Amino acid sequence: MELRARLRGRTLDWMMRQMNDLRPEVLERAEGDVLEVGFGTGLNVPFYPPGTKKLVGLDPNPADGLPALEERVRAATFGVERCALRADGMLPFDAGRFDTVVTTWTLCSIADHRRALDEMRRVLRPGGRYLFIEHGRASAERTARWQDRVNPLWRRLTGGCNMNRPIDLIVQEGGFELERLARFRHTGPGLLAHMYRGVAKAV
Ligand SMILES: C[S@@+](CC[C@H](N)C(=O)[O-])C[C@H]1O[C@@H](n2cnc3c(N)ncnc32)[C@H](O)[C@@H]1O
Repeated sequence: MELRARLRGRTLDWMMRQMNDLRPEVLERAEGDVLEVGFGTGLNVPFYPPGTKKLVGLDPNPADGLPALEERVRAATFGVERCALRADGMLPFDAGRFDTVVTTWTLCSIADHRRALDEMRRVLRPGGRYLFIEHGRASAERTARWQDRVNPLWRRLTGGCNMNRPIDLIVQEGGFELERLARFRHTGPGLLAHMYRGVAKAV
């Protein structure tokens, strides 16, 4: 693993560990064969419930070789396969291949989120669930306006993260029906603290 990738992996792991308290409630509904889009450093792996049979973790910037990630994968009670791919291209999986699709803090940084959601819907079996938690557009108009102002700079600094995406609308426009949606403010910087946690199924 080259130095730059190792530093990126360690930084991402530290930052995203701060969100661990929010993971169990998202993942408790996962079952069967699961596709996780934006696998990152595998922080979700220990939180998948016993009904999980197999996990495919997809990420164009794999953190393979990071000791914490490798340990999580080793300790998993189900098989974990990793794919170095972006979600907004053609996914190499048959239609209806997965029982569950998961994203956690990833829709913000997928360049073509429409294409990615189309593909996620295609590979989800009828009746399967899409589980997500994402940060996004604030409900307070004043905060949302600040997000719009700051977003161009933020996106450049972070290599593609958007703070102002209306996640509920994006998911619905992607052909999913929301079964549950919770919007709440988490700790941390105000512009990044607006969370959308949901369960959706394909329509
Ligand atoms: C903020 S991290 C979240 C990682 C992990 N889901 C977590 O909860 O800790 C966002 C992840 O999305 C990945 N990502 C960026 N663009 C992507 C794309 N087009 N398709 C799939 N994943 C992407 C990044 O490489 C990164 O690992």
